[in-house]
Amino acid sequence: MSTDITQTAHYQTIENRAEARACSFTDFIEKLSALNRAPTFEEINEWMREVEMSAAEVQPHRGFKSATYARHRVFRNDYAEVLLLCWRPGQRTPIHDHNGSFGAVRVCEGVMWETIFSLDDEGRLRYETVREWHPADVTGADVPDIHQIGNPDVSGLDLVTLHLYAPPLGVLNTYRVGSAEIGHYTVDEFMDGAGI
Ligand SMILES: [Fe+2]
Repeated sequence: MSTDITQTAHYQTIENRAEARACSFTDFIEKLSALNRAPTFEEINEWMREVEMSAAEVQPHRGFKSATYARHRVFRNDYAEVLLLCWRPGQRTPIHDHNGSFGAVRVCEGVMWETIFSLDDEGRLRYETVREWHPADVTGADVPDIHQIGNPDVSGLDLVTLHLYAPPLGVLNTYRVGSAEIGHYTVDEFMDGAGI
């Protein structure tokens, strides 16, 4: 179960996993491979609730870095991108949005903390709320969305998360609390472990 302190309009909490049908990871990738259009936010969240990734399927992509969390691209076409992220305790993203892509994250193992932000009337970043996610939980990031996710240093556990983005991630925006300044990360930067 997730721990919701408050709900925001930007994020949709998905908690009906008990009702979700199972979908093998192979079928999940085949479904994405067959896409000939952009999937909807609802479809992305439904597919992430359904998919079941076994430990054997995670294993080829399961790898950690010491300085930052590790990103492993599992699939990418014109319409969607799947990443497996591996986090040691204390590793987290910068504060970022997805620059127009829908996104959904499913926790495979460990505990994920998510901090959510918004912009005030002057365009400055402000804190909104924090949520905690556990294995099989799915959190969907609608547009707009500004958040920071990571593995809390107090968890004592490695964290592995499955991410689906549509369209695939391009240049992403980064933020600082109290500032209206927006930075940018390119795909090469963040695939190299710089973050996001
Ligand atoms: Fe994100």
